[in-house]
Parts: sequence; structure tokens; C-alpha cells
Amino acid sequence: MKGSNTLKLLSKRRTVRRFTDQEVSEEQIAALIEAAFYAPNYLNRRPWHFLVVRDKGVQNTLGSILGVRPYVQEASAVIVLLGDAQLSSAWQLDLAVAGENIVIAATAMGLGSAWVGNPHSPAWDVTEQKIRELLDIPKHIGVLALIAIGYPAQAPEPHTKEERWDVSRVHYGKFSHLKGEWGNIKIK
Ligand SMILES: Cc1cc2nc3c(=O)[nH]c(=O)nc-3n(C[C@H](O)[C@H](O)[C@H](O)COP(=O)(O)O)c2cc1C
Repeated sequence: MKGSNTLKLLSKRRTVRRFTDQEVSEEQIAALIEAAFYAPNYLNRRPWHFLVVRDKGVQNTLGSILGVRPYVQEASAVIVLLGDAQLSSAWQLDLAVAGENIVIAATAMGLGSAWVGNPHSPAWDVTEQKIRELLDIPKHIGVLALIAIGYPAQAPEPHTKEERWDVSRVHYGKFSHLKGEWGNIKIK
């Protein structure tokens, strides 16, 4: 794949918060999880578990727990990113990286995705406990986030370099040396 094609795919990934009724196939969900399994992870411990929820009632409850209805309910599927804290101290990082693979793969497949949940938020312990009870998740397995997946009912504009590239955030050699000219490079 050309560099510009890769960047185009990445720029097209936007958070989608409205989904159509069209169901995503089980095969597509399996492909998204396969994408997650290819992610880099600390010491190759692979502490991940992926819990797929495709039940509107349960999705509705998840949306309420997280305070983000209705799109969690509207989604064709929700993938809960879980990690085994006994397997790796870096499980949260590993799951975040794997989750990124999922949302990029979803974009490539014409699907929309929304990442939900911040394990560093003050109320996360309570949120996590509620999700744990709802989905029968064992104690040593932590919840990192949920990804709502479906066919998009909204089309947010792709990101652009003009909007996103930040000259003050690209340093070269030393923190004080900014690499401003890279902002003008057109990738082929
Ligand atoms: C760790 C994390 C937690 C997020 N939690 C939520 C959330 O609870 N609700 C929501 O609507 N979006 C959530 N998002 C999506 C962000 O709001 C979104 O990625 C950001 O506004 C940038 O927009 P974009 O994804 O379209 O580029 C979350 C994203 C991340 C990475």
C-alpha cells in the first residue's frame, strides 16, 4: 500500500455516533478481532480478551452504565476490550493498541466505530464493576473500553493534515527544535 493510501485510511477513521439498522456480519466481526490479534503487545504476553455483545437489551444497559446512549444500543455490535492483569502489567496499553487495530480495520471495511470509556476517570471502578457483573467477567480481568460497531448513519468529514498537523508538537533531535517544514510535505 502506498503511504498516501495508508494515510487516507487513517484520516477517514472518525468516531461515528449514529448507526443504521443494517447488521454487521459475524464474519466481519471476526475479521475485526483478527485485526486486534495482530497488534504489538508488551513481552508478547497477549493479555487480551474480546467480548462481543449483540443484544440490544444488554447494549442499552451498557449505554446507561457509561452514560452514552443511544449509540451503544444502536450499534450492530459492541466489542468490549478486556485484559488479564495477571498476565501483563501493561494490559491496558496492549488493549488500547489492539483496539486501534479494530477501529482502523472497521474503517477499511466501510464500518463506523465509536470508542467509549476512560479507565482513568474517577468513577471507573464503579463503572467497571457494573460491566463486570452485567457480562459475567471474572475479577482478574479488567475492562479497558468498549467499541461500538455498525454501519454509519452519519459521515463525519475525514481528518485533514491542515486541521490536524501541529507544528508545535513535532520535535527533532531536541525538544526545543521543531520540525515545522514537515507540515508542508505531501506524502506519495
Ligand atoms: C480513551 C477514549 C475514550 C473515549 N470515550 C468516549 C466516550 O465515552 N464517548 C464518546 O462519545 N466518545 C468517546 N471517545 C471518542 C473521542 O471523543 C473521539 O475520538 C475524539 O473526539 C476525536 O474524534 P474522532 O475520533 O472523530 O477523530 C473516546 C476516545 C478515546 C480514545
